[in-house]
Amino acid sequence: MSKKTISGFSKLSKRGKIKWIVENFFKDPEAVTKELTSYWHGNAAQQKVLDGFSENTISNFPMPYGVAPNVVINGKTYCVPMVIEESSVVAAASSAAKYWMNRGGFKAEVLSTTKVGQVHFVWKGDHQKINTFFEATKSELLKDVAHLSERMESRGGGVRGMELLDFTAQQDGYYQIKVYFETCDSMGANFINSILEALSTTWSSRIKGNDSFSEEEKEVEIVMSILSNYTPDCIVRASVSCSIAELDPKMTKEECRALAKRFETAVKIAHIDPYRAATHNKGIYNGVDAVVLATGNDFRAIEACGHAYAARSGSYSSLSYCEVKDDQFHFWLDLPLAVGTVGGLTSLHPIAKRSLDMLGNPNAEELMEVIATIGLAQNFAALKSLVTTGIQKGHMKMHLLNILNHLEASEKEVEQTVAYFKEKAVSFSGVRTFLDQLRGVQKAVSS
Ligand code: MEV
Repeated sequence: MSKKTISGFSKLSKRGKIKWIVENFFKDPEAVTKELTSYWHGNAAQQKVLDGFSENTISNFPMPYGVAPNVVINGKTYCVPMVIEESSVVAAASSAAKYWMNRGGFKAEVLSTTKVGQVHFVWKGDHQKINTFFEATKSELLKDVAHLSERMESRGGGVRGMELLDFTAQQDGYYQIKVYFETCDSMGANFINSILEALSTTWSSRIKGNDSFSEEEKEVEIVMSILSNYTPDCIVRASVSCSIAELDPKMTKEECRALAKRFETAVKIAHIDPYRAATHNKGIYNGVDAVVLATGNDFRAIEACGHAYAARSGSYSSLSYCEVKDDQFHFWLDLPLAVGTVGGLTSLHPIAKRSLDMLGNPNAEELMEVIATIGLAQNFAALKSLVTTGIQKGHMKMHLLNILNHLEASEKEVEQTVAYFKEKAVSFSGVRTFLDQLRGVQKAVSS
């Protein structure tokens, strides 16, 4: 057996796991061990909490935790926490927030909050018969699972309805019970999945126990019971608007109009072309994911849902819209967002808890508004740069600092290099050459 495979890995202690990894996958075991252990949390109890989130943990993976201040939404000012490794994202959100703060701020409103779960099953028999049986037993089925939703109901949520869908034309015998939920301030995954599993059990046994079905018809094959991450009816809208002349006080009204029109065209392009739409929406998720992560929510669910929603017409398209009409500039974003502010990581992760504190401990709807706003801010900043200066100017400024950091430049070297590259294209080799020259000169001066 290869030395690179192992059985019983999960049973090793954390140090044991690291030992096996460094001995089998690294040339410098000691240095790697030192590095990995250096990221362990200084507080053993906190480390235990972090380890509890996953399996086979060996260390922690640090990510930058930043904030975008001055985010005014519906008249309230937020300082929004963001976890992201891409430079320029927090800077872009902050500058868009400040820009709109001086133009009335962002508006945001939750349009709907329904979540969905499905019991997928195979049943062979007369379509009409199963449909009639479902309608006749629906209220009994709901009663059978009611004990699981008592707490959720006391908070104002619960099962909101269900229907039987017939997919037998696409797949022999395939039906689905589609269930609609309100999960209040929790994302609701555990609640939904528990209800669905109980529902599938009672559904099968009610069919088995009903003598109007033949022995063959009593056979129900439950394929799976699981929530859907596609929540097109859990939607928030974030928007901004101002008069065209307000777009840039340094420009004439005609220049402002040209800018507004170019911005509108850029959004239209993302509605026409999926290649552009993917990049356009990626920019939106730069902001969305950063807040979702900072607040301990499930960014994979949010992304999967958003991209499915962006393709709801059958063609992948922009999630944001722009309209320039009657001298007014309108820009808005409709985003499906199933997030929670209670349960899951939101209350367990120490920093996620702090993030929610920073936001004033919002409920799930308010958090939806904040997240969508940051998505819109990000999209606004990206498009404004793209249709004017291009994004490389801002990106490269940050990139230059990363390169200088990598090359361990001193404060003085950073100052000189930034001044040198002010009007020049930045590349890694260009910066290294400049720094080498600088250091050569300095060496020559000091020797
Ligand atoms: C980069 O992370 C995001 C952008 O490409 C978004 C866009 O093109 O709209 C700048």
